[in-house]
Amino acid sequence: MPILQHPVRPAPRGAGRFRHPSEAPRWHLLGLQGRSRDDILDLLDAADACRVRLRAGGTPFDDLRGVTVVLAFFEDSTRTRVSFELAARHLGATVATLTAAGSSVSKGESLFDTMQNILAMGTDVVVVRHPSSGAPAFLASQLDVSVVNAGDGRHEHPTQGLLDLMTLRDVWNGRFEGRRLALVGDIAHSRVARSAIFGLVALGASVVVAGPNTLLPAEVERLGCTVAPTVDQAMDGADAVMALRLQRERMDSGLLPSTGEFSKVWGITPERVRLMNRDAKVLHPGPMNRGVEVATEVADGERSVILDQVENGVALRCAVLARCVEADVAMRRAQSGDHAGRPGADVAARRLG
Ligand code: CP
Repeated sequence: MPILQHPVRPAPRGAGRFRHPSEAPRWHLLGLQGRSRDDILDLLDAADACRVRLRAGGTPFDDLRGVTVVLAFFEDSTRTRVSFELAARHLGATVATLTAAGSSVSKGESLFDTMQNILAMGTDVVVVRHPSSGAPAFLASQLDVSVVNAGDGRHEHPTQGLLDLMTLRDVWNGRFEGRRLALVGDIAHSRVARSAIFGLVALGASVVVAGPNTLLPAEVERLGCTVAPTVDQAMDGADAVMALRLQRERMDSGLLPSTGEFSKVWGITPERVRLMNRDAKVLHPGPMNRGVEVATEVADGERSVILDQVENGVALRCAVLARCVEADVAMRRAQSGDHAGRPGADVAARRLG
């Protein structure tokens, strides 16, 4: 069954330009903070359906034929960028990738000007990774295009959060209530941690964090989690653990004595895995530093669902891209009467056929 309920057309001239204040805002995925349980479960259900279709293979999909997706990655990525590209291609979209290296950003062009130029080429959805927290939200507020946050600074990484929830839903047989995830490592610099906490709390699970004091954000409990003084206490009786990498690219110097000490005190070892519940699994968002935050035997062991997370990332991103376009079509359908004769009317009319 196709993901979209409405046919879509190629982005018309003028699509993606500066948004007029009278126009309906587009659908964006900027973070999981404040998202409702139903909204999150709806996306997870759509991702499950995409995974069934992807695993079945066969006929290429054309759900997003005529839709243009631009991946604007101003920071390095392997999993997120490739899985978004695969997802867009699986659904028949046209995809272009922009990275900071090799673009005119190196000549001093601003983020805003760069994106205005990209959108002037006719773009329906932009997927943005940026080292500055808030960059995707800024673009969403200014431009007439759907924006998906692919990780911004230490703020959020909502598609990672959703694929983690998708993985945990499988592991936990569909039930979040009463479950507990231990999040261990560099919480302070982790956008993955923030999205995981917001998502899990919305679904009724609890999160306990553990890490060096220098790598815990001030007032971390205000995110909705509790803090354990040791990794052993965090993992004791937990239903899953997620190890987090030391984010050296976002770290001031002097926060850690050594990676060796970090590994000894906070690393996820086979002995610590045995502290968790019998069926508890090990997650890692990647990229992984083996022997630092997680032992190789654990990363490759039978409790590891790290590569399941990666597989789920493609299906989840299919669902998110489809939702951007579906929500956009629905919103413009609802508002098309109001927009007759005003900027954007041509966009809505052409999209609605
Ligand atoms: N989890 C994650 O964001 O990985 P990448 O940086 O490789 O995209």
